[in-house]
Amino acid sequence: MNGDVDRALEVLRSGGLVAIPTETVYGLAGDATNEAAVRRIFAAKGRPADHPLIVHIASAAQLSDWADEVPSAAERLASTCWPGPLTLLVPKARHVLPVVTGGRSTVGIRVPAHPLTEELLTRFGGGLAAPSANRFGMVSPTTAQHVRDDLGDAVDFVLDGGPCPIGVESTIIDCSVTPPQILRPGGIPSEQIVELLDGNIAEASGPSRASGMLASHYAPNARVLLAEDRAEALQLAADLDHPELIDRTADLVDYAQHLYSDLRAADARGAGTIVAVLPPPAGLGHAIRDRLMKAAAHRAD
Ligand code: TXA
Ligand code: MG
Repeated sequence: MNGDVDRALEVLRSGGLVAIPTETVYGLAGDATNEAAVRRIFAAKGRPADHPLIVHIASAAQLSDWADEVPSAAERLASTCWPGPLTLLVPKARHVLPVVTGGRSTVGIRVPAHPLTEELLTRFGGGLAAPSANRFGMVSPTTAQHVRDDLGDAVDFVLDGGPCPIGVESTIIDCSVTPPQILRPGGIPSEQIVELLDGNIAEASGPSRASGMLASHYAPNARVLLAEDRAEALQLAADLDHPELIDRTADLVDYAQHLYSDLRAADARGAGTIVAVLPPPAGLGHAIRDRLMKAAAHRAD
């Protein structure tokens, strides 16, 4: 047993907030049945109330505790992909707090794959509501230090589980509709989901459509310009003063893993403009493209 997990449990049981490591990004977790704790999550992030939170659970066996009904597609995906980077939207059970779901009739559920958080969830027994542990609209955190930099004292304890191995958020599938729909590309490539559901799924095209998601999100302070290949990126960069180039297209696992720390590092160096090379739209490339396109979208503020 891990002493930090003991501390995290204590904080959660008393209604506090803990940053938890997952295989995707760090989450800002509170007891999903404690309304005051959930409200504190929104306040800490500066997140509008109509952006629902994902409830994290210890195993697929607990899915029926949170769902009014478990659609067969959800059953199938949960049994194959959990623990792992996949969130399933299912019709919510009656007891699920409206503050968690933003008043919606569905709830997002996932079983994360990270040894510390798996131990924490198993011992906690219930569900942990957790969005990514960054300030609203900014780049997600993939290390404990990112969380501290973003949230400071707004988080009661940071459970440090090292750098997140996948580095982009979970794939979100809405299983409350027939056929199910991919709302956000993520750590599990959509090709794999299509195969698991025998093609019985509506694939979203373009930027992700999970409700509450804005065109601009995952955004660093620097302006982001996109290129389809390295030659185009170098051409764009030639006209700029001290641009930062991001291109890990040679290895998409490496690209996803370092995407957010690369964006943060460019900001830390005070970069005015980042030029990023988009990977092809296949496998992890779907999620990386989605995040880069959102980072590049014009910000209203
Ligand atoms: O990998 C992940 O999914 C990470 C880790 C911490 O688990 N979490 C994460 O949470 O990315 P968040 O809140 O940053 O992004 C979840 C997205 C939000 O845009 C939210 O609006 C959407 O999922 N969402 C959650 N529940 C929903 C629901 N019931 N209906 C529609 N959209 C939902
Ligand atoms: Mg987020």
